[in-house]
Amino acid sequence: MPPSYSEYLQLDELLALQEGTDGKPSSDELHFILVHQNFELWFKLVISELRAARDILDRDYVAEERIPRAVHHLRRVIETFRLMAQQWKVMETLTPQEFLNFRDKLGTASGFQSFQMREMEMLLGPQLRDGEQRDLPGPAEKRPLVAVVSDWLARTPIMGSAPDDAGDDTIVTRFIDDYLAAHATLGVETAEEYGGTPEIKARFTAEAEGAREFLAPDGGVDRARAGLLFIESYRELPLLAWPRRLVDTLVELEEQMVLWRSSHARMVERIIGRRTGTGGSSGVDYLDSTTQWRVFGDLWAVRTLLIRKNALPQLENAEFYGFAGGENG
Ligand code: HEM
Repeated sequence: MPPSYSEYLQLDELLALQEGTDGKPSSDELHFILVHQNFELWFKLVISELRAARDILDRDYVAEERIPRAVHHLRRVIETFRLMAQQWKVMETLTPQEFLNFRDKLGTASGFQSFQMREMEMLLGPQLRDGEQRDLPGPAEKRPLVAVVSDWLARTPIMGSAPDDAGDDTIVTRFIDDYLAAHATLGVETAEEYGGTPEIKARFTAEAEGAREFLAPDGGVDRARAGLLFIESYRELPLLAWPRRLVDTLVELEEQMVLWRSSHARMVERIIGRRTGTGGSSGVDYLDSTTQWRVFGDLWAVRTLLIRKNALPQLENAEFYGFAGGENG
């Protein structure tokens, strides 16, 4: 016998789980429980998709045709977060007073303790801000997505040269030196356009120093960042089409998560104002602070130092990337 609809979905079990702690939830409390459970079910999907994407990329060599599959899983995560950001609207139909009627039943229970939320965060990787790392509970199960992506970026062929090729160091260093020179020249020109005052010049000099610090911290070139810069700069090359999609997808994913966090904070502000959370945090202030951290910080940071196409170093070995001509485009 094939299963019925409710057998297949185990609906009897699923729909028996909204009784609350005393078996007598009001319709407002039922709403509160159901909204939370819905989120936790979506979290389960997100965890499974993030694991799948991480596993696809977690190898010493990622074949070109595997990247679309990783992007596919990550796109599902993006759409789930987009949907979840809208779900706060349903929560907001709970008025502050209605929430207060059953809030004491929660005790110190809080979304803070959502172990699935922490698992998602662990799968993505450490959250950083100005070199500081967000202190989160729980050990990482395996290598997080950000580490796997960084290894993959470090293997990007630059001017046709791969990390194991003879002379790769020289080629990569030359690319970065040429790039930084072009970046600095543009900075000097732009500073003049803005009137060339000492303040303006200092700002563009600081930008040039920031670019060097990012690409060659402590003097040595960071190959993952160089690979990322290469993908972003020569993004129209056929061989870079999927790598660039993967990078764009990761940025969109983090953007969507940040938007989800900030819409949670707005919903919370509307329902409990600025009072202390049931988890004991400062509430809205704490939630707003969580929108500042970034997992894929490099993917965001590289945008600050991109330059226009016709100022880029001349592309070498264009044919390697699927272009017949040697044009920069
Ligand atoms: C009336 C509805 C809600 C209120 C007033 C509320 C309030 C809060 C507050 C104040 C915090 C900060 C920690 C604390 O001190 O408790 C928090 C954290 C959190 N909430 Fe909510 N929340 C609500 C609904 C939800 C729902 C439906 C979810 C979905 C699962 C959720 C997920 C989370 C998560 C994951 C955190 C931890 C965030 C982090 O540490 O990065 N919340 N919530």
